[in-house]
Amino acid sequence: MRATAEAPGKAIITGEHFVVHGAWALAAALPRKVRVTVEPSSKFEVTSDLFRRGESRELVPVSRVVEEMAREFSEKPEVRITIASDVPGGAGLGSSAATMVAVAAAYSRLNSLGLTANEIVSCAMVGEQSIHGKPSGVDPAISAHGGVILFRTGAAPKGVSFEGTRSLILSYSGLNRSTKGQIGHVTKMKDRYPGMFESLAVGIGDLSLRAAEMLRTGSMDELGTLLTINHAALMSLGVSNDTLDGMVDLLLKMGSYGAKLTGAGGGGSVLAVAPEGKEKRIVSRLSARGFETFSVKIPVEGVKSWLER
Ligand code: PMV
Repeated sequence: MRATAEAPGKAIITGEHFVVHGAWALAAALPRKVRVTVEPSSKFEVTSDLFRRGESRELVPVSRVVEEMAREFSEKPEVRITIASDVPGGAGLGSSAATMVAVAAAYSRLNSLGLTANEIVSCAMVGEQSIHGKPSGVDPAISAHGGVILFRTGAAPKGVSFEGTRSLILSYSGLNRSTKGQIGHVTKMKDRYPGMFESLAVGIGDLSLRAAEMLRTGSMDELGTLLTINHAALMSLGVSNDTLDGMVDLLLKMGSYGAKLTGAGGGGSVLAVAPEGKEKRIVSRLSARGFETFSVKIPVEGVKSWLER
């Protein structure tokens, strides 16, 4: 008997970094997934295509999630875990959170624990904390719940629903970075400029609430304006760089409604919204410049798991 879980990656639409300090963020699940299989074994072992690509940082956090769940639910920690991912690591698209959520969901399914999405998030957070230090929890929350959520630490995520689909463009800079380092830099900025930081955090929290409303009503042009404003706030904190700013400029020049970095910044990806008729051309022009670029339709469902005999 074995259990499999599939968890989606994510894009933060607005509010990254400020969410670590109590502001609202808006996040969407993406149609790129991490698939995890868990089966009984005589010892704890993990194999992963992430490791083959040289991204071995998930190994320790995965074992933390399993050890903690085994302890809490009095189950065996000896399991064989197989991870396959089509979410690029270090790209700001939630690969580590999707991995932790899928591990927790598959382990829960194998042992018939019947955990809810929120309980899976709590288990996944053990792994996330060991990678990122003090993350807000938005990444595992969106991966577990799916769809689009407004997230604030300590509150239940609020689902944002709409008729039909919405389209987002994502473009990967090819630069990896450490989320922990980026969070640390922002915390230093907050300590140095507490008044300014507080005003920005309040402003971006409001902006996330407004962005959710624009996404819900399909007002993509105004959503775009909000994305570009959010990028300026992230620039002012020093979490952008020349490559990301250049990509945002390019996306705007090509006719996007708006664009911003998404995730921790310093590398990773940028996110844009554009008029429907311009999307294909924007994607192919960014790709031609060497940035892996794709458009996605949201909403996308959250983690799911099943047993196989
Ligand atoms: O690791 P990333 O790039 O998905 O960024 C996570 C978002 C942050 O707001 C920077 C951190 C957090 O825990 O919310």
